[in-house]
Amino acid sequence: MTAPRFHAGGVICREGNRQSIPHSSKHSQVRAEAGGMRWLVTGGLGFIGSHFIRLALHERPGLEIVNLDAMTYAGNPENLRDLQAQDRYHFIKGNIEDPKAVREALAGGTDAVINFAAETHVDRSILDPEAFLRTDILGTHILLEAVRERRVARFLQVSTDEVYGEVLQGESREDTALAPRSPYSASKAGGDLQVLAYWATYRTPVLITRGCNTYGPNQYPEKLIPLFITNLLDDQPVPLYGDGRQIRDWLFVEDHARGIMRVLEHGESGNVYNLGAGDSRTNLQITQALVQACARTMEGHVRHVADREGHDRRYAIDSSKARALGWKPTVPFEEGLATTISWYRKHEEWWRPLKSGEFLQYYQRQYAHR
Ligand code: DAU
Repeated sequence: MTAPRFHAGGVICREGNRQSIPHSSKHSQVRAEAGGMRWLVTGGLGFIGSHFIRLALHERPGLEIVNLDAMTYAGNPENLRDLQAQDRYHFIKGNIEDPKAVREALAGGTDAVINFAAETHVDRSILDPEAFLRTDILGTHILLEAVRERRVARFLQVSTDEVYGEVLQGESREDTALAPRSPYSASKAGGDLQVLAYWATYRTPVLITRGCNTYGPNQYPEKLIPLFITNLLDDQPVPLYGDGRQIRDWLFVEDHARGIMRVLEHGESGNVYNLGAGDSRTNLQITQALVQACARTMEGHVRHVADREGHDRRYAIDSSKARALGWKPTVPFEEGLATTISWYRKHEEWWRPLKSGEFLQYYQRQYAHR
């Protein structure tokens, strides 16, 4: 299968944005022979970004990917260690807040930029909002400026359903008003608004995906599912916030990555696409499933702790617009959860080092007072 050209409202300006290629002649040759594209993925050492890179390289044989990642606590080189020897994968350590690093990463001609780089954990945003504003707003702005300057043919912003705020009834559509309620979601909403402003003002060919809660292998163990799995495997208690009846919609990471690919290649510029699984559960239900799968008990292992400040009660999105592009989730929740638990069981060497050092300090700050 060859890499499709961008269409449906996308502007193809490959010749215009091609610069001298800074990579070795071996790399240039691979690209020329493949007649392929080069995409810049930012934040590609993180959870969803690393799955996206793996999928894209697998499904698009002519594609080269440059991964610009700042290697913050959640960017893990282990996620893509096996790709390092591949000619079609290039890693650059750098931050999207640094215009020079971004310019360097774009040098050589880039057909699309997919922005995964973000601070993403709501609880951390409550402790330290500033980092979220810097990466999710300023970083997005710096990327957009570079994309505009280089006339890159596609810019896709990976965003979140949390920008709609809590949805007590019904489902948010792409045109539902934004009502973020945490420093994290407010920062992501700020990024989204800039992206749409670049479309309105400069006709920069942008797209936004807004995904729901995502789970699967390689997720840093601070979010509900990986934190609870790794605690339970270690025979430790799990901290369930409030009454545990908050509702989230859960999407397996590979389905999320496929949704982003679909929107990148088939979406219409200037548009937003929701990516939801349509599979809502309470945190209590998730906790029961995890406790059972790890052969623990609710009484022995679940600690009911003080609720998150400003905790959004429910998220729900209508993703019929992305489905009309031909995307749909393929992994049922029970299957995805079993795959995820089994991955964490088999990859202790991946998560154990993460649950020390910085993580322990964070865990103490986040949970000790609860
Ligand atoms: O909806 C998409 C969003 O989903 C993404 O944009 C975010 O990056 C991602 O973190 C996630 O946000 P949530 O706040 O919903 O995810 P988290 O895993 O932190 O929490 C899921 C639910 O579980 C939420 O209702 C809070 C609860 N929870 C979470 C943790 C970490 C607990 O009860 N105890 C915990 O220790």
